[in-house]
Amino acid sequence: MNYYVTTSIPYVNGEPHIGHALEFVMADVLARAARQEGKPTIFCTGTDEHGTKIAQKAVSLGLAPKQLVDKMSEEFRDLAHLLNVSNDRFIRTTDKGHEQRAQLIWKALEHDIYKAKYTGWYDVKEETFIPESQADPERMKPDHPQAYQKLEEENYFFKLSGYSDKIRAAIESGTFKIVPETRRNEILAVLRKGLDDISISRPKEKLEWGIPVPGDKSQVMYVWFEALMNYITVLGYPEHKDFKEYWPAQTQVVGKDIIRFHAAIWPAMLYSLGLPLPQQLYVHGFITMNGEKMSKSIGNVVSPKEIVAKYGVDAFRYYFLRHIPSYNDGDFTWEAFEAAYNNELANELGNAVQRTAAMILKYQNGIVGEVSPAQHDSAQVGEAIAQCRFDRALDEIWDQVRGLNQYIDEEKPWAIAKEGDTDHLREVLAYQVGCLLEIADLLTPFLPETSDKIRATFAEGLVHPTDKTLFPKAEQTQE
Ligand code: MSP
Repeated sequence: MNYYVTTSIPYVNGEPHIGHALEFVMADVLARAARQEGKPTIFCTGTDEHGTKIAQKAVSLGLAPKQLVDKMSEEFRDLAHLLNVSNDRFIRTTDKGHEQRAQLIWKALEHDIYKAKYTGWYDVKEETFIPESQADPERMKPDHPQAYQKLEEENYFFKLSGYSDKIRAAIESGTFKIVPETRRNEILAVLRKGLDDISISRPKEKLEWGIPVPGDKSQVMYVWFEALMNYITVLGYPEHKDFKEYWPAQTQVVGKDIIRFHAAIWPAMLYSLGLPLPQQLYVHGFITMNGEKMSKSIGNVVSPKEIVAKYGVDAFRYYFLRHIPSYNDGDFTWEAFEAAYNNELANELGNAVQRTAAMILKYQNGIVGEVSPAQHDSAQVGEAIAQCRFDRALDEIWDQVRGLNQYIDEEKPWAIAKEGDTDHLREVLAYQVGCLLEIADLLTPFLPETSDKIRATFAEGLVHPTDKTLFPKAEQTQE
């Protein structure tokens, strides 16, 4: 069965941070796991480049919007590369293909679109229309640092209200699965109240930086409406074979702040187009820094580049996948990161590899001999991945790492060597290698470089010594 997985597409008004990195890496595990199972896979990510926020940012930097988005989109592409993220495509909403296909989609949705007057507010930071009834009175004041824009304008509207019950039924029946359960319940409560129609365009005289509404030069599409379309424009909606073969997505990965867009507006658009909903929406939490919101003004933003430069890409992936709860918010501190690095990666995994290789070199001239692959029950790892419980999957794998170290401590191959029981020694060491190869296999979607290194160390029944330890012990970082 074909497998299609997506991340949300970040705005390019600022530098990529560890929240974006988390999402890239989580989706990457799903893509790599699917490929490992032999499923034809497409994994897409990209950047969201239109809207007021980006237009304003460009003005503040004295750049044309296109100059800003070209530069910043590159940063996100680099981030994916840095993190060893295996995306097959990278879509930009300023790509010509996306713009043209977005217009086709608009036309196909016209039976649910009407023109009316919008009177209310606009939250530029979140790129959302805020109806009078939901507006925070403080932010209505023009001198508030995050003051809303007051809008009174002609917009196109989308008949979202007609889809509340249909979407709710899909979620309740499990055809559109949302994990975790808490997020599913949250959106079900919204759907039970019923959805209102939404504005889906802005007058061009107020915002030029957007995709023109087909047939109406005076309007551009609302950034969210058009950005959501990326999930199918990137596959070549409507005619391309990738679209026909890969939609619906198996899993869409998004953060908790944008659930309403992905569990209400996007499904309604799909229904309106006569398309099936994605099978699963996975909603991750937010990362804080030392318990505080990441923010430039607090000055607590750690760049993914800094972490990777100090500890390597797999240490980064490991921390964010295991120690940020997959179904909840999580915290980053250098202290916790370094503890995980030293205790779990260096002491537990690194040592198991290191001492196994060293003993085979010392006692058997590097010859491993016949290895029968270890066969622990790893069904739970697969299940955890299917439910996007990356933390739990790594817990399970680590049980095997710890089990192996315990085995080595109990069997004491060095004592067997002293006794001269070479047959038994060969068996014990071969079993250790079998376990490590199994662990490498299970770790492939999570820590691809490390898995390759483990396989290379024991390839073809021989130990191939490297002068590099897997996870060299690290010095404490000053906070
Ligand atoms: N452009 C929209 C998404 C459009 S998808 C059609 C957007 N961009 S964003 O840059 O604000 O966020 C991109 C992703 O990063 C979202 O899933 C968001 O939840 C996630 N995160 C942003 N800050 C985060 C943390 N501090 N922690 C974890 N994820 C966070 O929304």
